[in-house]
Amino acid sequence: MVRRPRTIRSHAGRRKKAWRLSRYDIRGVQESQHSSCVDLPVPRRYSPDFLLLPLNNMDSIKGIKGVKDILPEETPRWRLIEDTVRRWALSYGYQEIRIPIFELTALFARSIGSATDIVEKEMYTFPDRDGTSLTLRPEGTAGTVRSFIEHNRAADPLPQKYFYIGPMFRHERPQAGRLRQFHQFGVEFFGTSDPRADVEVIALLWRLLSDLALPDLTLEINSLGSSDDRAAYKPFLRSFLSQQQALLCENCHRRMDTNPLRVLDCKVPSCRAATESAPRLTDHLSTEARQHFDQVLCGLVALGVPYQLNPRLVRGLDYYCLTSFEITSTHLGAQNAVGAGGRYDGLVKTLGGPSVPAVGFALGLERVSLMFQKTSSPLRDECLYYVAAFGEEGKKCGLVLLDELRRAGISTQCDYRATTLKAHLRQADRAKCRYAILLGDDEASLGSVILRNLESKAQEVLPLEGLASILKTRTFPA
Ligand code: HAM
Repeated sequence: MVRRPRTIRSHAGRRKKAWRLSRYDIRGVQESQHSSCVDLPVPRRYSPDFLLLPLNNMDSIKGIKGVKDILPEETPRWRLIEDTVRRWALSYGYQEIRIPIFELTALFARSIGSATDIVEKEMYTFPDRDGTSLTLRPEGTAGTVRSFIEHNRAADPLPQKYFYIGPMFRHERPQAGRLRQFHQFGVEFFGTSDPRADVEVIALLWRLLSDLALPDLTLEINSLGSSDDRAAYKPFLRSFLSQQQALLCENCHRRMDTNPLRVLDCKVPSCRAATESAPRLTDHLSTEARQHFDQVLCGLVALGVPYQLNPRLVRGLDYYCLTSFEITSTHLGAQNAVGAGGRYDGLVKTLGGPSVPAVGFALGLERVSLMFQKTSSPLRDECLYYVAAFGEEGKKCGLVLLDELRRAGISTQCDYRATTLKAHLRQADRAKCRYAILLGDDEASLGSVILRNLESKAQEVLPLEGLASILKTRTFPA
């Protein structure tokens, strides 16, 4: 569908061309997929003129709802979480992949499924300048699979195991633990349908969450069977749901036709009550799917990873088959899923690659951070030394000393505004440094400094020359 420019007037009164946005051009999508993509939500306002709207001088530009800053007080906690997940992923043999933040809309529509909440309502979709429809990634699996296919990774020895950390974007109603820009750590394990791979990814998620000492976690698990199993099960489910129709919410009425399995994990209490005795997919599994599931459960028992069977767990992304799982915590309120994933054996093929089975999960880092904040003492980045340089010569030597210490890898700071020793010590205290290096004109002329322990107030005189290596040995003893 090719968009046509129309003429509009800018705020300055000039005539200019703007693109109509009533439909999207989805390049690279075959006609059959096209129809499922053209109804994607259209941004209400898109015009370069929007940028020209006069902004009152006194107005400050605010951040976007559901898009949060992670402030310096929080970044030490984030870094610790990221370092922990990265360390665990590497110890399980996963390699880091960095995939783009935006991709062709068709990638997400085709992989996540056009009848899912994410694709129907939550994607940030916008036209590129040539009209191609692009979307900010709502999750990382689709991009990783696209990259796997595009770089012909299946030609290299399998299995291949990737992990990623980065921002994702979904237009959801913001609340605690639910954001429009959020961060995921995810892993994707390509190349084997062995149930031990499912056990491995679940165990990795469980172990790293336990390492972070997150409280009251529950692993819920289900099998979605094969696509044939689901096709055979759907008529039973539909017939049950049609008897309960009057009790179901409006969304579920729609889902009954488009995606009946999703009715099972609707959070509306009346829907939950109405589907309490719904037929279970696990009672309709083929022998192979049943065996796969049993082996996954046995593996979890062998590793001592506790689980709860949840026949309602169907997940909101269409690419899953067989194992699906979610780790929840009672400490998170309504948005209680910390991480979730499952097997997606058909996705590589669906996206145009060879038939390569895969399994993975993603962890919501905002949710981990929320829980971690409640259960651990605050972390902060510490600067070890403060250079209190004052006086004409002292300041000159101080500038060089700062550079030498930092080059030696010693964290050091200084407030260039402070001109007196008192002001420097106040700043060193505020910055929570452990030592101050006092360097006035007298010290500069003597070629020495005074090292002051800011807690005990003990002082010692040290030579200025070679100070960086003396402090380096003390800071990082061999
Ligand atoms: P997902 O269940 O959509 O799965 O998301 C995984 C996790 O991301 C959730 O459990 C939650 O912690 C976090 N999350 C999702 N939406 C938000 C949000 N709006 N705000 C904050 N956190 C959020 C996937 O994304 C799949 N790609 C997982 C996967 C990887 N399956 C196989 N491989």
